[in-house]
Amino acid sequence: MVNQPNKDPAAVHVVILAAGKGTRMKSELPKVLHRISGLTLIDRVLRTAQALEPATLTLVIGHGAEQLKAALGGRSVQFASQEQQLGTGHALLQTRPLLEGQTGTLVLLSGDVPLLTAGTLRALLDTHADAGAAATVVTANMSRPFGYGRIVRASGHISRIVEERDASPAQRAITEINSGIYAFDLGGLFPALDSIGTANRQGEYYLPDLVAIFRKQKKAVATYTVARADEIRGINSRTELAEVSTMVRQHKNEELMAAGVTLIDPATTYVDADVVVGPDTVIHPCVFLEGSTKIGAACEIHAGSRIVNSVIGDRVCVRNHTVVTDSTVEAGAFLGPFAHIRPGSSVGGDAHIGNFVELKKTTMGKGAKANHLAYLGDTTIGEKSNVGAGTITCNYDGEKKHQTVIGNGVFVGSNSTLVAPVTLADGSYIAAGSAVTADVPAGALAIGRARQENKPEWREKRAQKQKTGQLKTES
Ligand code: UD1
Ligand code: CA
Repeated sequence: MVNQPNKDPAAVHVVILAAGKGTRMKSELPKVLHRISGLTLIDRVLRTAQALEPATLTLVIGHGAEQLKAALGGRSVQFASQEQQLGTGHALLQTRPLLEGQTGTLVLLSGDVPLLTAGTLRALLDTHADAGAAATVVTANMSRPFGYGRIVRASGHISRIVEERDASPAQRAITEINSGIYAFDLGGLFPALDSIGTANRQGEYYLPDLVAIFRKQKKAVATYTVARADEIRGINSRTELAEVSTMVRQHKNEELMAAGVTLIDPATTYVDADVVVGPDTVIHPCVFLEGSTKIGAACEIHAGSRIVNSVIGDRVCVRNHTVVTDSTVEAGAFLGPFAHIRPGSSVGGDAHIGNFVELKKTTMGKGAKANHLAYLGDTTIGEKSNVGAGTITCNYDGEKKHQTVIGNGVFVGSNSTLVAPVTLADGSYIAAGSAVTADVPAGALAIGRARQENKPEWREKRAQKQKTGQLKTES
């Protein structure tokens, strides 16, 4: 990001305020790192800001600055630090070394207002430009304006903003509120910020005081009112976080249904922002689809399943209580119930992974099956191989992980332990109950267990010995 003064009068510079403590969240985590449908509040605001293709993007940070920097590592943002949180006006002043001398428009956003759309910001910029204003305030009409700054108008024109705590009863009855989102002309902004005082109930430098300051200077101040007040809702408490999360989730669910996905119970369907689902897929109650997950068409995802950062092909059936993480499942496969597909796994087309089967960094070939009770880790399994119930790959020797390679058309008998590194070549058979410690050639049968011995008439002989006192019985 360039810090050279940008003389383009049409340039947009975005500043996001995120230094506050978020006291009401009662959290160790900075408020803007709390999540809604998988994305942090700050991620949501950054996405909206980036849609404007700003010349610079600055985050004012203070509380939890290190945590925030770590969470935003690699993002093209610059940081201004506000050591003491003396108010929103003081917060914006901290960007002076980065932004003074730039020309164009500064768009100020709040890190805790996550639903704002880029469309609203474009409309704000248009209004601001048309009015030739020093400041344009995004406002909203709210039936319950409690907690917000109120827009005070004189002859219809905005004259000042008054905070809840400083408002008279008459001002408290005003239902037009300040969203905390503004456009400012960069020329003259910093000198005006210098003139903000702290004569208010909180003893803070209030950014909204700029309105009265500019009006006094006879500069134009405009407003842009959003149609839906929900869009500018701020998050100050866990209750608000939950309320806004519900709204976001409903919106995503409606999008999915409009795109041809059946949700048996939208109220208990949890789909993250970036998840894609194909048409004719049916999602049962209490399903969680998270992160970058992509689900194909005509799948069935049964209740209680959770799929994280995974790609699922068409016509896959995920039965109840299956967890899939960072993995790929190809078309027509069956998973679960109660399957656990751990990171780095890939399940081939039409493969079956049954109940209580755990995969980790394991590739199942096309049509391969592991239908019951197995642990398959660091394993490659070829096409149409069958892994019997109770099979365990012993991939860990206490120090290192080792690979198991199972070829095509292999039959692994039940309750086998495959001690890695080991290879079972194409078409080989493993007798049930084997401990396989050496490679098995193609087509061979491996029996890795003690041979069974039958002792005829053993019961009768034992009884005789007991009678003659040769064998003591326990009393
Ligand atoms: C602010 C506005 C209010 C508006 C509301 C909209 C002020 C004085 N009031 O109130 O008119 O209706 O937003 O949501 O601006 N922050 C800092 N440093 C500080 C103080 C705050 O970075 O010293 C940041 C916070 O982290 C937050 C944002 O500024 O992201 C808003 O601060 P907050 O304390 O939540 O202001 P409100 O009381 O909500
Ligand atoms: Ca707030």
